[in-house]
Amino acid sequence: MKKYVKTELIYNIMCSIIGYFGHDDAAPTLVRGLKRMEYRGYDSVGVLTGSDNKFTLKKGVGRVSEVNNKLGLDLLHGSTGIGHTRWATHGKVTDKNAHPHLSNSGKIAIVHNGIIENFEELKSNLQNKGFDFQSETDTEIIANLIQLNFDETSDIKQSIIKTVAQLKGHYSFVVIFEDGTLAAARFHEPLIVGVEKDNYYLSSDVLGFIEKTDDAIYIDNEDFVIVNNAGIHIFDFDGAPVKYQITKVSKEFADVYKGDYAHFTLKEISEQPDTILRSENNDQIKQFVDNIKQAKNLYITGSGTSYNAAEIARYLMSKFAKIKIDTVISSEFPFSPNDIEQDSTLITISQSGESADVLEAVRIAKKSNTNILSIVNHLNSSLSQESSLAIGLNCGPEIGVAATKSFTSQLAILYKITDKLCNGCINPDWAKVSAVFSQILSSNSKIKEIARILKEISDIYVLGRGIHLSIAREAALKLKELSYIHAEAIAGGELKHGPLALMDSNVYVIIINPNDSTYSDTMNSANEIKARGAKIIGISDKESDIYDYWIKIPPIDEILYPIIEIVPIQLLAYYTALEKKTNPDYPRNLAKSVTVK
Ligand code: F6R
Repeated sequence: MKKYVKTELIYNIMCSIIGYFGHDDAAPTLVRGLKRMEYRGYDSVGVLTGSDNKFTLKKGVGRVSEVNNKLGLDLLHGSTGIGHTRWATHGKVTDKNAHPHLSNSGKIAIVHNGIIENFEELKSNLQNKGFDFQSETDTEIIANLIQLNFDETSDIKQSIIKTVAQLKGHYSFVVIFEDGTLAAARFHEPLIVGVEKDNYYLSSDVLGFIEKTDDAIYIDNEDFVIVNNAGIHIFDFDGAPVKYQITKVSKEFADVYKGDYAHFTLKEISEQPDTILRSENNDQIKQFVDNIKQAKNLYITGSGTSYNAAEIARYLMSKFAKIKIDTVISSEFPFSPNDIEQDSTLITISQSGESADVLEAVRIAKKSNTNILSIVNHLNSSLSQESSLAIGLNCGPEIGVAATKSFTSQLAILYKITDKLCNGCINPDWAKVSAVFSQILSSNSKIKEIARILKEISDIYVLGRGIHLSIAREAALKLKELSYIHAEAIAGGELKHGPLALMDSNVYVIIINPNDSTYSDTMNSANEIKARGAKIIGISDKESDIYDYWIKIPPIDEILYPIIEIVPIQLLAYYTALEKKTNPDYPRNLAKSVTVK
């Protein structure tokens, strides 16, 4: 009997899983699907195929293309298989920890996304039964638990029912059995089946199979799937058959190729003249507004870029609709000094709808019977399911890790909500916004010139006042994640309370300075900075000698400046990344869906 040794557990939370059962070669399909889902994690990758009761496995550390070029993942034989991309949250990125993982018998293999919370207990039980482990992952525990349960029951369905009853945490997994049968289960992590005649795709995202089929079955939480020569069967965790519906996936999901663009990030920035016009949904906005009007207490939350949108919402709703709304960063929700009041309303903003911090905020808020309204891009996400009402951004899939078009679409919806709340008092001209986006996008030579300068610097400041302070924060976030330059937002009036000490001739400051009510105070800040010798990049519709570099934005209604002034900064961050030869689509250490707390 083996002694139990506590090892460091490697969680596999932000990963993509895929499985294929059909008539074609599985490996090329799996690799293409994994490439499309790489936004979910990209530090290691692996593929296993099954043929004539034998498995072939290849896996390694690196991006999908790198590992594929080195190991030939897409050359494996067999018409059934599973694949995985990983983003480690704890511990090392190693070949051994990459998925798929085999059970001890070598007759069962698994890919998994999520976390098994009772891994210690399960691992210890398995070790006491003589199982041993090759990796530090919790995934291998599931593979061996399934083997144990399969050996006891000789039945695939029963082995899954018994296994999911023993697992705690949240997960989705695809498991392949020696005879080529695939089984997949969902517990609070996504699982979608693509159906194309007798070919089946089991995937974390429709992007895993969209080039093959747009017929999808969205698996419900606590259901599992078995796919083999008898077709597809879906059961709940108690084993009762589940009726399923095939949904036509939105055509937009097919539109995930980079086309003529070098990167998804540039493609997505460039789509904004179109996406800004697509967030229209009057019925839902009306329902949202009705809910807000009835709210006893109103809160708004999000993470990262989505939180910056929440700050803009707070400004707009208090200024124009005279509505009091508290902003809370989602990850701070658990540490809030006061409980949310009973029967409050919480607006959540999230591109993915899968951010763990946002879902945790919702979980906490629901303890006080809070009404959850959400603004999300993925309408099939966990967040939508937790909400009484969800408005879609309708901006199409965002693959680049940095949020760009989703941010401007979030703002568009928040403007529309505010406009309805104040009976049309701002009446935004969206056609004009779209035209201004196109103008900014087509005159980017100055931005490229500044990017060449920024590639040499290590710190930059972004200054704004009033509503533009939230844009300064969003600008600093874009510069950090895309160009790896340390970037910090400064409220104009705070300069003299500290940051002025940093200003000297090596420093660059971006001044967000549209010709509105903040203009003259922001000019004062610019003068204070200039007097200390720092270089100024002015983002404004009004030229001034004070700027060392002027990024011109077209004039627009005062209230719409925040939406348009972020676009040149998205471009600046993108072109600086190119100058620094980093990959803007996949910034180091980040992932698109942050499904870990
Ligand atoms: C920044 C960025 C992140 C996300 C954050 C929230 O460019 O992409 O800060 O905004 O992780 O993600 P969602 O909106 O999916 O909840």
